[in-house]
Amino acid sequence: MDSSLRAPTETPKSELYRQICDQLHHLLKDETNLIANAANTAALLFHRLPNVNWAGFYFVENQELVLGPFQGKPACTRLPVGKGVCGTAAAERRTIIVPDVNQFPGHIACDPDAKSEIAVPLLNWGKLVGVLDLDSPLLNRFDEDDREGLESVAAIFLAAEHAGELPDLDRQATEAS
Ligand code: SME
Repeated sequence: MDSSLRAPTETPKSELYRQICDQLHHLLKDETNLIANAANTAALLFHRLPNVNWAGFYFVENQELVLGPFQGKPACTRLPVGKGVCGTAAAERRTIIVPDVNQFPGHIACDPDAKSEIAVPLLNWGKLVGVLDLDSPLLNRFDEDDREGLESVAAIFLAAEHAGELPDLDRQATEAS
């Protein structure tokens, strides 16, 4: 068959994340501002990944997760650590993949269109900084390839030198007491 008549083949996820990580590295390499880098990371993910209706950051502040740069509809501004998908990823310091948000106890619904979700904790040398969160309007959108890809994205984001701007949950708790 004439190759121009074939349906375009989808880029495999691993290749897509390789391209995203490469682009992200170039976007962040000469910038140290936390907000600028978080904003570009969210925009890159939102525009490169298919079937994603929200991509963005929450950063720790006084034992809560506070909304950071994102793409998508306006979202909840403060989430408790330990509750919901983001709060669970933060408290357990591990990536949480939720195939169906309606089956996740305590899910915090910011957008009724969101059906599945992935939340990746941002750990700076073991210290909790925040969470990278993505929502999809499709059930079961995120899998182990997304976990691996988004954990790499989080690592590139955290490796950018943010000149002491990264928050730290443990330090904030000590300072508050
Ligand atoms: N659903 C999340 C809240 C954040 S939004 O999806 C942007 C949660 O349960 O933590």
